Amino acid sequence: MATANRGQWSGKTGFILAAAGSAIGLGNIWRFPYTAGENGGGAFVLIYLAFVMLIGIPVVLAELSIGRKTEKNPVGAFKALVPNSLWPYLGGLGVLTGFGILAFYSVLAGWTLSYLYGAVTGIYGGVMNAEESAALFTHLIGDPVLTISLTAAFLFLTVIVVRKGVSGGIEKATKILMPLLLLILIILAVRSVTLPGGSEGLAYLFTPDFSKLSGTVIMSALGQALFSLSLGMGAMITYGSYFPKTENLHQAGIAVALFDTGIAILAGLIIFPALFFVGVEPGAGPGLVFIVLPSIFGSLPAGQLFAIAFYALLAIAALTSTISLLEVVVAYFVDEKGWDRNKAAWILGGLCFVLAVPSSLSSGGSAMFTDFLGTGLSFLDINNIIWGNYSLTIGALLICLFVGWQWGIPTALESLESSGHKMPGRNFLGFLIKVVCPVAISIVLIYIIVTQQYF
Ligand code: PFF
Repeated sequence: MATANRGQWSGKTGFILAAAGSAIGLGNIWRFPYTAGENGGGAFVLIYLAFVMLIGIPVVLAELSIGRKTEKNPVGAFKALVPNSLWPYLGGLGVLTGFGILAFYSVLAGWTLSYLYGAVTGIYGGVMNAEESAALFTHLIGDPVLTISLTAAFLFLTVIVVRKGVSGGIEKATKILMPLLLLILIILAVRSVTLPGGSEGLAYLFTPDFSKLSGTVIMSALGQALFSLSLGMGAMITYGSYFPKTENLHQAGIAVALFDTGIAILAGLIIFPALFFVGVEPGAGPGLVFIVLPSIFGSLPAGQLFAIAFYALLAIAALTSTISLLEVVVAYFVDEKGWDRNKAAWILGGLCFVLAVPSSLSSGGSAMFTDFLGTGLSFLDINNIIWGNYSLTIGALLICLFVGWQWGIPTALESLESSGHKMPGRNFLGFLIKVVCPVAISIVLIYIIVTQQYF
């Protein structure tokens, strides 16, 4: 079944870093803190952690088992496993979702480049209060030419790596960058936690107030867990397809999930204490991180250096995620349509740029996209909800149903253990994929439909 010359990770560490590179991104550092802030803090975080353990890890392993077995992109994988069925459409939904997410994610990723520029030129080095910081942010995201150019620049960088393929491009980049990101996040967390007011931030993040629970909170926590782990659209099928046959896949998959969750919590440890320090509302929404962070750099010795390092790494964390989003789409066209990788990367990256323009204009650049169709939500917000929450959730549900009830748990386990490493708790994993995940995800979906608590 293997396709010749598709490339492979050099080993387990290469995979862990690349897959963690996909998982760790703006989802952890930008989306997690503001979603937690909008949804009441502690209760959201607790549910999020439960979803990572009960749904996230099983779905990671389900996707990886499909990828390793078939060595294909999501569409090719389902075609290989159940030809002449509807399942390949699930892979198609994944490819489409990758495209949909990339078309708004690259806009946010572009913002990080502007912040990096600001750090290098010294705008973020000095002390800045929340109003000044918010004014800068609003100015940046509302500038149509700037945001479109930054989006283009970010997609350009993504294409440059993806056209080089798996071990030459993706793995090389992530091997250096991920450890560096971890180090700088730890330093910032220590600084933030020790700020005056820091303990209030920690209490907000870790004390669950269950009166704040609602369908929206639960849906957001599930969406966030899947988004953060890059699940529900076949990114892990694709990355698993390049996994060396002799290495321990389940251990690597669990390491990626824990690494990703640790980074989200670390981001929370940076943002929430700082937020109480500068007096920004936790529910400030998508701008939260961009508004709060500049204020802690000013209070650090060598603040400008920290700012530069942080925004450089944030941009890089975003890049290793956009790479995986584009990779899913490119792998489909390379494997299934026989396109040359280089051509696929350029054409699909270019097309994505066109689709990203409305999102680039949706934070003030154009009134029409800022309040899209009178919904009160921006075009970017709506895409975030459709692709980043609903589509991933439906995708994850169907992947569990596929592995649990169509392909079969024993076959999935055989794939996970094909290197000869036995998986501890294998029967429990099977039960989670077959029963717990589909039931839990369906309950969340039905609940939000019945109570009409969309977003
Ligand atoms: N997991 C990425 C993040 O947290 O930023 C976003 C993402 C990447 C989602 C790749 C889905 C995906 F396939």
